[in-house]
Amino acid sequence: MLRRTVTVTAAVLAAVLTVQTGSQAAPAPGSPGAGDVYYPEYGNGGYDVGHYDIRLRYYPDTDRLTGATTILATATQDLSRFNLDFALKTTSVRVNNRPATFTKQSDHELVVTPARPITKGTPITVVVEYDDIPSAVVAAGFTSWNRTDDGALAVNEPEIAWWWYPSNDHPTDKASFDVSVLVPDGVEVISNGTPTRWATPAFAGWDRWSWRQEKPQATYLAFLAIGQFDTYQDTSADGSPIVTAYNTRLDPVTAAAARASVERSDEITDWAAGLFGPYPFGARGGVVTGAGDQGFALETQTRPVYDGRSFIRGSNNSLVVHELAHQWFGDSVALGQWKDIWLNEGFATYAQWLWSEDQNEGTAAEIARYVYSEVHPADDPFWQVLPGDPGADRLFDSAVYDRGALTVHHLRELVGDEKFFAILRAWTEKNEHGDGTTPEFQALAEQISGQDLDAFLQTWLYTPGRPELGPSTLAPA
Ligand code: ARG
Ligand code: ZN
Repeated sequence: MLRRTVTVTAAVLAAVLTVQTGSQAAPAPGSPGAGDVYYPEYGNGGYDVGHYDIRLRYYPDTDRLTGATTILATATQDLSRFNLDFALKTTSVRVNNRPATFTKQSDHELVVTPARPITKGTPITVVVEYDDIPSAVVAAGFTSWNRTDDGALAVNEPEIAWWWYPSNDHPTDKASFDVSVLVPDGVEVISNGTPTRWATPAFAGWDRWSWRQEKPQATYLAFLAIGQFDTYQDTSADGSPIVTAYNTRLDPVTAAAARASVERSDEITDWAAGLFGPYPFGARGGVVTGAGDQGFALETQTRPVYDGRSFIRGSNNSLVVHELAHQWFGDSVALGQWKDIWLNEGFATYAQWLWSEDQNEGTAAEIARYVYSEVHPADDPFWQVLPGDPGADRLFDSAVYDRGALTVHHLRELVGDEKFFAILRAWTEKNEHGDGTTPEFQALAEQISGQDLDAFLQTWLYTPGRPELGPSTLAPA
């Protein structure tokens, strides 16, 4: 599902006029990229995906993954051919019920040529069959599928879909998902949304697990956690299913600390909804992997995935707050451009400061002052990384998180609490299940505050060096 503001240029008008006068252009290839400035070949052009149906079989002993993904899309132009982002060995492709030809343009671009050209505005059904060992597949110089001692994890950002399903891999094209995986019985499969088949025997020795994500979801936020998990199911006050899962390889005390935090996800989600607006999704929960299995947490939609190592020193509610805040900032309101990553990480980090304030563990201003003066003193090279344009190789630099959160805090100081929270809620409401960019955020914040925020954002997001922090943060009353 694409939600874009269309600027009608002279060229577009000329094209429209050409069509109206009847001199129709020949169907053209879909673009191999979605126009991302950091990742020009991520995503594709020429179609808009509405739904992914991912139906797989996984063999944990050998890491073999086989199956088919059916993509329901709509053509946004007359198409002679189009690209999918995918790295696994593809055995067949069908488009609109006819065999299609396919070739690899690069190790993560599959070019599909349908038997008949596709007309703009018509539905496209693509069925891609595949069979491969994802942990052995290198694309763009790395692998992202993560084989563990008891299964596998498909959890990463921004590149993970290539290793398990073909897609239009950019956050601006969200879709609903059905994910169904056959595994040897006794193995758990956890994914996003609502479980529709829970360890359902398919035939001797094999179970099917099926998950449904009804709300629009970006491709990198779809995940698989396959292995040995202790699972808990509950229902939220709003009726949505809560599923939490903990890898059984966690030592009992770490598992208890993880549970002490992740079992509060429902409560923390409600707390966040009180600040950021209604929870945008219909399911909740969290998954904790074995300690060190992945080395980071990810805000996978409805159900973040945490590394067990995050709980080895005890509970870590702040991390849960961070990942759940992303459900608004990153998941519901996705990035229009990967360059604007601070809109995800700065806001999720600031949510941690708000939680701290709520819990009487230090106000956001106290944390801001500490981060600004002591964690990152003026001569720290940290201040040379620009949160509004960190570069693709520094997407998750601490400046994106900490200077991003300081930017959010400074905005709060400039406009005051009432307008600040009004801006956050307007942003999540206006862009719910869509996407946004920094210039769009600036325009909304200026409209609501009635202030010109350009100099402030230029300094904080795009200028090297440590900016001035407001007096009320540096010397609070
Ligand atoms: N977005 C994640 C977070 O909440 C970070 C992901 C880091 N990804 C990675 N491949 N290291 O902080
Ligand atoms: Zn984050």
